[in-house]
Parts: sequence; structure tokens; C-alpha cells
Amino acid sequence: MGRRKIFAGNWKMYKTYSEALELVNGLKAGLKKTAGREYILFPPSPYLKDISALCVSTPFVTGAQNMYSENQGAFTGEISPLMVKDCGASFILIGHSERRHVFHETDEDVNRKVKAALAHGIEPLLCIGELLNERENGETVSVLKRQIHGAFSGIEKSAAEKVSIAYEPVWAIGTGKVATPEIAEKAHVSIRDIIKELYGEDLALSVPILYGGSVKPDNIAGLYKMNNIDGFLVGGASLEIKGFLEIINI
Ligand code: PGA
Repeated sequence: MGRRKIFAGNWKMYKTYSEALELVNGLKAGLKKTAGREYILFPPSPYLKDISALCVSTPFVTGAQNMYSENQGAFTGEISPLMVKDCGASFILIGHSERRHVFHETDEDVNRKVKAALAHGIEPLLCIGELLNERENGETVSVLKRQIHGAFSGIEKSAAEKVSIAYEPVWAIGTGKVATPEIAEKAHVSIRDIIKELYGEDLALSVPILYGGSVKPDNIAGLYKMNNIDGFLVGGASLEIKGFLEIINI
């Protein structure tokens, strides 16, 4: 089907500066397969510029883990899309579950950030996913629908085409409880159905949908075999050179 294949590492709030340099140099040295795959590193923002510079002319590109939706202003502690671009990043994580649930970002915040990213030519990697109790109550699809409708509100199809999605069930993030390939595949199919309702079948079939949540070298193979899983957003296992190389070299 020729969809983009994307392998991404979200370093969250981990690594000192020297550890971050060591990690990226180790990944550059050990990366084997490159054809047809994209590799994105999401380092902490203080290191974004230097990590981006280290990735120039390599298969790796960088993204920011978060940004605010305004270009500038009195928003102490925030970084803007202009700053993200200035640091050499081409992607932005938007709506990660930790942003939603620890920092209380709403679907409206997510929508503003997606629009800001698109306005600045930064590719959004939109994260969505249900809580454990939402899954247990049979609300998974309605949660995904609410998050997708919220994120894409007011966005034209020509812009929506630039967005990639990461399905990250909250109960699987950082817990060691990975979704089974069947559970992940079913959610990815639901996501394509929701995109189809919004933008039509062509976009539903072309949008890259990554899986995230306790991805490890020993569970990736079964997930990667599924028809609708186009790559991975990896947290904990992206912090270690050997383990992340096993994942991205699969
Ligand atoms: P994890 O995190 O791989 O540590 O579960 C995934 C993520 O938060 O993107």
C-alpha cells in the first residue's frame, strides 16, 4: 500500500546533555536499514538544536516533544513553533498522553497546536489513546473519535494530509503492558474509519498510524506484521542504544 513507515523515539524528560549526545551518536553508528523508513528523535527541547545538527545528512530527523501554539509572547516556560523550526526540528509531538493527563491539555489545545504546526510547516505527530477505564467501559472508539474530531477541527484536507497519528493506549504507556497486535490493529482500523468519515477513503488509507506503549525489542515483531501498523513511537526503550537499534533495525 506504500504508506510511510515511521520509527520514532520519545526521550521524554530523560538524559543529561552528554548522555543525549552519546545516544544519538550510538544510533547513527548502528542504524542498518534505511530504505523507505523515516526515523524521528524527540529529545528534550534544550538539546534540540544540537541533536538536530548531529542528524543533518543522516536518516534521522528531529522533533520537539511539545510547543505552545502562539508565535511569541508572554508565555513563560513555553516554546513556540518558530523556535522549534529554528532548532532544526521538522516534527512536533502533539497531544501525548502525558501532556493530556499530567498537564491537562484539552482537545482544543491540541487543535490549536496542530494548526500552529501546520501553519509553520512542522509535521504533527498526533497522539491519541484511551485510558484503561475507558477501554473497560467499551468507550475506546468514542474516545478516539472525540480526540480525532477535536484535533482536526477546522483543518482542510490538504493540511490534514501532513498529519501522522500515533495510537498510544494510556494503559500501555510506561507500564510494560503492551497492546496485543490484535488490539492495536483493531484500534488502528477504527482510526482509519474515523479519518475516512472526516476526509474520505484516500486519506484514511494513506495516513501513517504508529503504535506506542511499552514497545520493546521482544514485542515489536508481532505488532509490525499487522496491516495497519505503520511504525512505532517508543518511549523507555528508545533511551538505550542497543535496544532502540534492535527496534529500528527490525
Ligand atoms: P513507552 O512510552 O514506550 O515508555 O511506553 C511510549 C510513549 O510515551 O510515547
